[in-house]
Amino acid sequence: MSLLFTPAKIGNLEIPNRIIRSATAECMADDSDGVPKEALKSLWVELAKGGTGLIISGHLYIHPSGKGHPEMTGIYADELIPSLKECVDAVHNAGGLIAAQINHGGMQCAVESVNGTIAPSAIDEDFLKQPAREMSRDEIEVLIDAFAQAARRAKEAGFDAVQLHAAHGYLVSQFISPYVNKRTDEWGGDLQGRTRFLREVARAVRERVGDDYPLFIKFGMEDGKEGGLTATEGAEVVAMMKEMGLDGVEISGGVGKSSVRKGIKSASREAYFRPLLQLARKKTNLPLIIVGGMRSKAVMEEVLSSGDADFVSLSRPLINDPNFPNLLKSGEVEKSACISSSNCWAENLNEGIACKCPI
Ligand SMILES: Cc1cc2nc3c(=O)[nH]c(=O)nc-3n(C[C@H](O)[C@H](O)[C@H](O)COP(=O)(O)O)c2cc1C
Repeated sequence: MSLLFTPAKIGNLEIPNRIIRSATAECMADDSDGVPKEALKSLWVELAKGGTGLIISGHLYIHPSGKGHPEMTGIYADELIPSLKECVDAVHNAGGLIAAQINHGGMQCAVESVNGTIAPSAIDEDFLKQPAREMSRDEIEVLIDAFAQAARRAKEAGFDAVQLHAAHGYLVSQFISPYVNKRTDEWGGDLQGRTRFLREVARAVRERVGDDYPLFIKFGMEDGKEGGLTATEGAEVVAMMKEMGLDGVEISGGVGKSSVRKGIKSASREAYFRPLLQLARKKTNLPLIIVGGMRSKAVMEEVLSSGDADFVSLSRPLINDPNFPNLLKSGEVEKSACISSSNCWAENLNEGIACKCPI
């Protein structure tokens, strides 16, 4: 039996099929204040009409110090709620569901988007755009509250769920990574100390949104860097997630764009984080979402029927064609036309994400 077009739940949220749009930074907000533009609303409506079961917004910045890049959408102030609500209402009117991915960029924020970057510990590396300074204990408390307030705003704006971004080398994953977090106080040290920030964020968010509201996470289970978080340790973090009050886990890995692999030319290159999911599955019975190189119906069906994942999550195939889920369902196509060259990032202002590959 085909599982791809059967419903399943994340917490209390029933999703009509197993296809999720993985968070994808749209760069369709006003650069000065993060207010979404019409283009963002139109894109989300297109995704809803295209048959995606659950859309996850591109990452939304929870505090001005965590704006990752130009034209990122904001959720850092109550003034943003009405414009976000307008977009969410449009998705609901089109029959879709949408979750808000909330994030703080930490050390990876763009030079032009913040006034200096912060991280759990001071860090200066070639892969960073600028050196980051160590956060004070007071700043840690402020940002825990900022995550909680952002989640509350998401709920007030009508989002169907919140996803915490704890992957790709952004702030939450920086705390968990032994490569980045060298703190010797209660916010660092062993795995209990390094996961404390996540635990406190999850606790504070739950306090604001209540026990029934769907709350899940995108988790970078390994850094893929010497001295960084290993898959074995990452699996231990997954084991803690149910107790943290989370309802589901999307598994990713790598720092920055290393999570977005190029050249998915054959079925054997698809589902490239599947080994991580197989480790995670041994540690939790929470719904698991696989992301990374999901391209063909056959691979999606096989991953679901094996039990390795409950949902499949797609980014680039839906930039290539927001109607892809409908085409898969009708049998018009068996595979995405996306060639995974990653030529879809927004590079100039007013450009937004767009498929620019010669297909
Ligand atoms: C243009 C672009 C923007 C992205 N923005 C985000 C983001 O805001 N949050 C996030 O968690 N991942 C982001 N990602 C990563 C994707 O969600 C996904 O994990 C990755 O692209 C692998 O999936 P795919 O092979 O289906 O593209 C982005 C990827 C692309 C290509």
